[in-house]
Amino acid sequence: MKLRAIALAVLTLAATPAWSAEPIQPIPAFKPKNPAMVELGKKLYFDPRLSKSGFISCNSCHNLSMGGTDNLETSIGHNWQQGPINAPTVLNSSMNMAQFWDGRAKDLKEQAGGPIANPGEMAFTHELAVDVLNSIPAYRAEFKKVFGKDKANIDMVTDAIAAFEETLVTPDSRFDKWLKGDKKALTKTELEGYKLFKDSGCTACHYGPAMGGTSFQKMGLVAAYDTKSKAEGVAGLTGKDADRMKFKVPTLRNIEMTYPYFHDGAVWTLEEAVDIMGRLQLGREYNKDEIARIVAYLKTLTGKQPDFKLPILPPSTNDTPRPKPFE
Ligand code: HEC
Ligand code: HEC
Repeated sequence: MKLRAIALAVLTLAATPAWSAEPIQPIPAFKPKNPAMVELGKKLYFDPRLSKSGFISCNSCHNLSMGGTDNLETSIGHNWQQGPINAPTVLNSSMNMAQFWDGRAKDLKEQAGGPIANPGEMAFTHELAVDVLNSIPAYRAEFKKVFGKDKANIDMVTDAIAAFEETLVTPDSRFDKWLKGDKKALTKTELEGYKLFKDSGCTACHYGPAMGGTSFQKMGLVAAYDTKSKAEGVAGLTGKDADRMKFKVPTLRNIEMTYPYFHDGAVWTLEEAVDIMGRLQLGREYNKDEIARIVAYLKTLTGKQPDFKLPILPPSTNDTPRPKPFE
């Protein structure tokens, strides 16, 4: 009887992951269900011909060499237009409960149609973007292979882009190794930083595998955030006063790479971002040493970046509509 109880306890222990007591879980690796669709989506993600100028692709603002962002306060759109808000990373974005700072797109597929037709971003129309693709036989062949239809449509385009984006996960950060039981993966300072992060309540909002993307929260809970940005957050959608300055909690994965910070991109250093979060969200003033420890911890959240061969795009044909970069 006693032996059986011990055996059971051992079995339960083996089945319980090392991180079960933590508010944060490791990022799981992703295995695509449809590799051909992912390959097509990758091409579309890098193809600037989905923009009016023929110059701006998804990768222009979500640069996969730079943590899936543009590292600018706000993005530069068609005709050098100044964007209204900071570009969030596309890395691990499939884990978001909704897309955009205010969550106005329900998933990656719905989101992907937005920038192509946004006059301040790629400034094209869905019809023209699809015309460009259908004028290129190599693209048509690839759409046929993936979707079994002779002609591309915007639904297929957004399906393929979303399928590619789902692969953009960043597992195996040093912190994830620590979560999985490699106690040497973090230094003493980094571990102290994690304890401070957890014990002071940062994980009330930054939890789960992506450490964000799971709730909308008010920026400036304890004290107001001083910003020049006109973005109102969720209130822009609902019109409700209670939703003013409520934003989707951003992921903290790869945070060392995705500066500048916050929806207005006004903060360039992690030290300042941590100081602001402490004061505005938790009513807590960290000293320099505490900030340094939390920042050291945050830098262990950089995972394995997506790694693939740069896609080679099929050339345009005589029938492909020409780009209009200066209109
Ligand atoms: C001109 C710059 C620009 C281009 C081009 C662009 N984006 Fe974005 N993207 C942004 C900005 C800015 C936001 C945030 C907008 C907001 O929340 O209101 C964003 C948001 C997103 C999000 C939501 C992430 C999150 O955490 O909420 C995803 C996903 C995304 N873009 C994917 C794409 C894809 C796919 C393309 C190509 C079809 C694309 N973007 C093209 C600037 C750009
Ligand atoms: C009450 C919820 C909440 C708590 C608690 C909280 N955060 Fe945040 N965090 C947010 C929200 C919301 C944003 C986005 C705010 C914005 O952009 O205006 C954010 C943004 C950030 C960013 C910038 C991310 C980016 O990509 O722009 C960092 C870094 C960050 N938080 C770290 C922390 C740390 C460290 C703590 C603990 C000291 C903490 N947060 C506590 C809700 C919270």
